[in-house]
Amino acid sequence: SLLQAFEPSVHRTCRVEDEYADVDWDNLGFGLMPTDYMYQMKCTENGTFERGQVRPYGNVELSPSAGVLNYGQGLFEGLKAHRKENGSLLLFRPDQNAIRMKVGADRMCMPAPSVEQFVDAVRETALANKRWVPPPGKGSLYMRPLLMGSGPVLGLAPAPEFTFLIYASPVRNYFKEGTAPLNLYIEDEFDRASRGGTGGVKSITNYAPVLKALARAKSRGFSDVLYLDSVVKNNLEEVSSCNIFVLKGNVLSTPATNGTILSGITRKSIIEISRDLGYQVEERAVPVEELMEAEEVFCTGTAVVVAPVGSVTSKDKRIEFKTGAQTACGRLYDILVGIQTGHIKDKYGWVVEI
Ligand code: COI
Repeated sequence: SLLQAFEPSVHRTCRVEDEYADVDWDNLGFGLMPTDYMYQMKCTENGTFERGQVRPYGNVELSPSAGVLNYGQGLFEGLKAHRKENGSLLLFRPDQNAIRMKVGADRMCMPAPSVEQFVDAVRETALANKRWVPPPGKGSLYMRPLLMGSGPVLGLAPAPEFTFLIYASPVRNYFKEGTAPLNLYIEDEFDRASRGGTGGVKSITNYAPVLKALARAKSRGFSDVLYLDSVVKNNLEEVSSCNIFVLKGNVLSTPATNGTILSGITRKSIIEISRDLGYQVEERAVPVEELMEAEEVFCTGTAVVVAPVGSVTSKDKRIEFKTGAQTACGRLYDILVGIQTGHIKDKYGWVVEI
């Protein structure tokens, strides 16, 4: 149980009895606010993870030749816990993160925790940090599971030891725009992913390479970057931190997950909800021309949730889209967040109450 995992000294220094941490809950963004505890579990060469532990949040010690530091052998995940009015916590589809980590671990030559180990670890991390879960309606506790080659290597090879970690931070809106529409810039120099690469898994190596284009777009006043495929350079791929959907009439289109696009859990959930609402959802190649003629465009992601796109700019051409309350995006946001926060009945069985 959770309490058995606490060291007695830890128990004395924490204040788990306090209902809420001392946080200005009305001004949360998406910055790191360290919480009391993290979860740690190690695995050695035989490929099995030993029993993990909730331990006080703090720095981790790594060999200078750790696989993750030298060769980028690492994956991350992201999922949220929402606080319900009755005080319990709601996790959203944690099993899906566990499965995605297993798929990514296979691609990155790492062993992964079992789905049960992963979900138990998420539960323990959320409960241990319960006082950091924002009050209902003020945000969520974002949990960041990591899997990395923590053992030393010199020649190019998988690390001899792996570490699974989860840390957490209270968050609210991902973008500084809050929930206002995003202005995206279509990147014309860099690619996010290439065929046969790791774009389809949540490898840490997918993220640092997009920082340059992101910084450039932000310096020009854009919210984020929209990437095109690396072959014909004309099909939508994804935004640096989220997936993209395009709506015209009753047809909702999103790029198919063919290995270069992250298999988003919010993406998958929005596809299912949209089909149930009667939209014709198509997962396929979506050319830029179709985006230019769309009525609505929106992004999905765990951090981003469902975010309306107000404009997309390609070189000097700027196209605007419908936004506001009376949109498919607004409706889908309300349903998804309603399920995640326990305000709408979860007919899908996605929410895990703890
Ligand atoms: C998430 O949405 O959880 C992500 O992992 C995206 C990240 C760039 C914040």
